[in-house]
Amino acid sequence: MNRTWWKEAVIYQIYPRSFMDSNGDGIGDLRGITSRLDYLKYLGIDVIWLSPVYQSPNDDNGYDISDYQAIMDEFGTMEDFDELLTQAHDRNIRIVMDLVVNHTSDEHKWFMESRQSRENEYRDYYIWREGKDAQTPPNNWGSCFSGSAWQYDEDTNMYYLHLFSKKQPDLNWDNEKVRKEVFDMMTWWCDKGIDGFRMDVISMISKTEEMPDGEVTDLYGDFGPYCVNGPNVHKYLKEMNEKVLSKYDLMTVGETPGVTTELARQYAGEDAQELNMVFQFEHVDENGKYGKWTNERMPLTRLKKILSRWQMDLYGKAWNSLFWDNHDQPRAVSRFGNDSPEYREASAKMLATCLHMLQGTPYIYQGEELGMTNYPFKSPDDFRDIESINAYREWCTDGSIPHEEFWPCIIFRSRDNARTPVQWENTAQAGFTTGTPWIAVNPNYTEINAEAETKNPDSVFHYYKKLIALRKQHPIMVYGKYEPLLEDSEELFVYTRTLESEKLLVVCSFSDKETTFILPEEFVGASCLISNMKNTYDGKNITLKPYEAFVLHK
Ligand code: GLC
Ligand code: CA
Repeated sequence: MNRTWWKEAVIYQIYPRSFMDSNGDGIGDLRGITSRLDYLKYLGIDVIWLSPVYQSPNDDNGYDISDYQAIMDEFGTMEDFDELLTQAHDRNIRIVMDLVVNHTSDEHKWFMESRQSRENEYRDYYIWREGKDAQTPPNNWGSCFSGSAWQYDEDTNMYYLHLFSKKQPDLNWDNEKVRKEVFDMMTWWCDKGIDGFRMDVISMISKTEEMPDGEVTDLYGDFGPYCVNGPNVHKYLKEMNEKVLSKYDLMTVGETPGVTTELARQYAGEDAQELNMVFQFEHVDENGKYGKWTNERMPLTRLKKILSRWQMDLYGKAWNSLFWDNHDQPRAVSRFGNDSPEYREASAKMLATCLHMLQGTPYIYQGEELGMTNYPFKSPDDFRDIESINAYREWCTDGSIPHEEFWPCIIFRSRDNARTPVQWENTAQAGFTTGTPWIAVNPNYTEINAEAETKNPDSVFHYYKKLIALRKQHPIMVYGKYEPLLEDSEELFVYTRTLESEKLLVVCSFSDKETTFILPEEFVGASCLISNMKNTYDGKNITLKPYEAFVLHK
């Protein structure tokens, strides 16, 4: 297996809108990020993944881009960006940009041209089709953000495809000119000195020529078989690699919904010449009767089975990302741990242990290192996210699902849980802004905030700091081979890592009760690398407290 810096790195994701506001308008911005670089350096991370900062009408908070080579006014200027990049590099922190090229904004100049006429030179930059008839879209596909995936355009009497919101028309990657535009734009950013790309829904860029109705799963037909891992996706990524990526020392991570371990070896194979790693969702994609809107938890045995399969199938062949949450997912501690005051810290540390000891590149989503929790939503008016707003309308307001039934599901999974402002201090608005924040601050900022966490040596923050430091000292955390133990346990997640003569034993309790664990003979007397409780692990029979986690090293 090749040893590379991006396998050894720890990534920190910033969602700029909610990170730090520097000018009191209630919206996080680039200068705000620069002002907190010392905090990130102290934590010890190597790379920032910056969610989109480009010009955007913000239908989907920057994931709808109207100009790829300009900064969103609310976030600052290109000079502010250059300053952030310089300041980050001065601290040996790299910056990976979000590349959103499955679609643009409908306010991008390409689309404004494209919709002008059927003959416009930009027409083929997007995916236009005739309707079945005047009132019926070309097929039954549903968009990820509710409603049909097709939008009728009166001017030319055709429909355009949008797998996300209708303000996010899909680009036509089969058009050579589109690929050239995207590659030129990427080159422009690389020449500026950025350190890589996180590629938004990159597994969805190639669509089949035929676009038949999809299987109806909830309300609409599923576009999956026709748009996810489509016919030319690997061809286009190889072309991108040849024309852009291979010319620079970059980290590239593909957001790849719908990827299997087999396909991951193509997207991110050691010698595949496409991307460095995938970012896959199998372990967070629990669905219920209202699609993703469910408050059910995945049984631990199933979670382990999925994560183990990824560990073993990719070993020595391809590389994966490790994450519990991001800007599209609920808060890790609320979803996989226990966010009650009694267990929040223990379970946040346990989850961190479990993830950082696996093979792959770990991602920390802003505030995760503080053990930030889901938000106590009271009413649909609290939502800011287009996905949550549309889903509530589709299922409850227009649909027949009673509010009482849907509400616990939507508040458990809403992306807005991750988007409340980072809690910096126990002062008004958690020190995020001096103005009125664009989305409410979680009221628990009085307890949970960076100032308190950095002062307390036993905090979740210091535990993350320690895990990151351990990764730098112990290559076994990066390169060791994974093996699962106790696969049938619904309480304990246990595994080993092996590198030559060295071995790690990782034991994590996902239970809110005491559990017992019998230490394998070979680890009796091994030293403890890290643990989240004050305990010793030298006897054969170990009684674990709720959410206890420890790692032994021999
Ligand atoms: C990705 C992003 C998400 C966005 C979507 C459309 O899944 O992570 O935030 O809404 O793509 O760009
Ligand atoms: Ca601001």
